[in-house]
Amino acid sequence: MSLQLTCDAAAGAAARVLKQRLEGFAPEIAIVCGSGLGELADAVASPIVVPYDAIPGFPSLSVAGHAGRVVAGTLGRRRVAMLQGRVHAYETGDAAAMAVPVATLAAIGCGKLIVTNAAGSLRPDAGPGSVALISDHINLTALNPLTGAVGDGRFVDMVDAYDPELRARFRALAGARGIPLAEGVYMWFRGPSFETPAEIRAAKVLGADFVGMSTVPEVIVARALGMRVAAFSLITNLAAGMGGSHLSHARTLARAATGAATLRELLAAYMEEFA
Ligand code: HPA
Repeated sequence: MSLQLTCDAAAGAAARVLKQRLEGFAPEIAIVCGSGLGELADAVASPIVVPYDAIPGFPSLSVAGHAGRVVAGTLGRRRVAMLQGRVHAYETGDAAAMAVPVATLAAIGCGKLIVTNAAGSLRPDAGPGSVALISDHINLTALNPLTGAVGDGRFVDMVDAYDPELRARFRALAGARGIPLAEGVYMWFRGPSFETPAEIRAAKVLGADFVGMSTVPEVIVARALGMRVAAFSLITNLAAGMGGSHLSHARTLARAATGAATLRELLAAYMEEFA
């Protein structure tokens, strides 16, 4: 199926530069580190660090908690490339803001993408500090990162976008370790304002379990490029109107630190198991 993304040329140029910087190291799994999750990259052995600003077409970052570099190396038995820091549609209005990094990692051979984010929860049983596996998403933002793409490949099948086999693996790994792992539907809001309580009530009626301002565009690009995807939400708060307390980015970062250790453990287990 033919597919031309608007970022193809940029991703091609970025892939050439990144490949050169990695000096023959070929990552197989790409990982996007979300808000407060940058330290996931601390566990990478023999890291090769490439700042985003050394790679043409990679974004420059503006949000606290996002470093802006690729950290490539081994995690357990797997070769990984971590995207430490992302840009969001709320920064630029551009849903394709992360298309170049995702397409670049696909181009250098990453067949899998693991996406992490901080999110609000609509489920009291998955409260702040817990980790959730995303099973599906809802995108009513009227944005799509494939806008402008050409060819039949743009009509991406989004059934099982969040790879059922990967999800089953993570469920099993969590179960074996006694890690509670909620699973549910992530609804993408464009932000940067948090949702209103009325929007959260509407989201619940629509079938959302978690809400956040990222991930969905990256997953769409990854699926267009045939990558297998798993995604995790670090629950930093109950969604607007549910928890009583007011929402803030500082609170998001503080609570993300709690769940980050759990997510690190789960990813480490996966990287060990998949020899
Ligand atoms: N809404 C949107 N994005 C978020 C939230 C939230 O409640 N918490 C962390 N990121």
